[in-house]
Amino acid sequence: MYHAARGWLPHLLDELGDRDRLDGELVTVLGQRRPARWTRNIWTKPLIIDFESVGEAARKLKDIQRNWAPCPARLHRRSALIAERLPSLPVKPKPFPFVVPETPMGAFTLLDEGRMLASPTCTSPFANGEFEFEEDHEGPPSRAYRKLWEALVLSGKMPAPGERCLDAGASPGGWTWAIAGLGAEVVAVDRADLEPRIATLPNVKVIRHDAFTLAPADLGPVDWLFSDVICYPPALYAWIEKWLASGLARNFICTIKMQGAEFDGETTQRFEAIPGSRVLHLWHNRHELTWIKVDGDRGLGSAEMPLDGSAGKGG
Ligand SMILES: C[S@@+](CC[C@H](N)C(=O)[O-])C[C@H]1O[C@@H](n2cnc3c(N)ncnc32)[C@H](O)[C@@H]1O
Repeated sequence: MYHAARGWLPHLLDELGDRDRLDGELVTVLGQRRPARWTRNIWTKPLIIDFESVGEAARKLKDIQRNWAPCPARLHRRSALIAERLPSLPVKPKPFPFVVPETPMGAFTLLDEGRMLASPTCTSPFANGEFEFEEDHEGPPSRAYRKLWEALVLSGKMPAPGERCLDAGASPGGWTWAIAGLGAEVVAVDRADLEPRIATLPNVKVIRHDAFTLAPADLGPVDWLFSDVICYPPALYAWIEKWLASGLARNFICTIKMQGAEFDGETTQRFEAIPGSRVLHLWHNRHELTWIKVDGDRGLGSAEMPLDGSAGKGG
């Protein structure tokens, strides 16, 4: 069962092909799991639960495990009554960084008055894939830093103080602000200027240049390569291939930005085929996906951590 990424149900339906059921933004496909990136959450163990009363529904869910997010496509009032009888879920914005707990997050939706579809485990550790950070409204010059924070939290790894990081497509400086805030050294590359207060941070060096015409050897070894460059996905892929071949970068987090209304599935598959990496749609992503290749990635948010490069090839 697939819960579509906010606003991207059409892309998810294209990815899944035939489907057995559509309830709001919930798409049911019977049988083998299919490659799907335009999701906010995938229900990994869906089961049908029959019940006679709201109380019985809540009891049956609690008997399985603690955390359940209601995901109503119909019978909203009845779903809310069941949810009221369940332990409350954390709703407060989260500070950065935070460690995602191991406890599973389930989800349920009512099919009719006495029957629900429920999954005790899901790919997202957050209720219906949704969460907010405590935002900093003063420091960063854009809100783009939230998707970088999300990728770091899901991978469970952060740039450490003193590590050397390349931030490509850095202007106006949201990601650079976030990386510099962790104490790492940032080389920020963009054709446009960064905001002066970010460009002049002591651990930030700015190179005003086309990132793609700088060879890895021009920039030297980096512990982390970040890219939020607006470009066609194949241009990003070609550049990343050079970095992989050079062996000069260890960890990568890159936004694959879709152009126009299209989803470039072919290039997405190429990224997924890079061993030890994965592609997913983050809650803070827009019309874009995030490619993550991080040593020791916790793999949160994905159905499996494809260390053999088999991501998206079924299951
Ligand atoms: C979405 S913005 C980046 C926002 C940034 N990550 C932040 O947090 O503030 C995309 C940036 O990519 C830059 N860009 C586009 N093509 C580029 C290229 N070939 N080389 C370097 N930067 C490029 C644009 O100038 C723009 O500043």
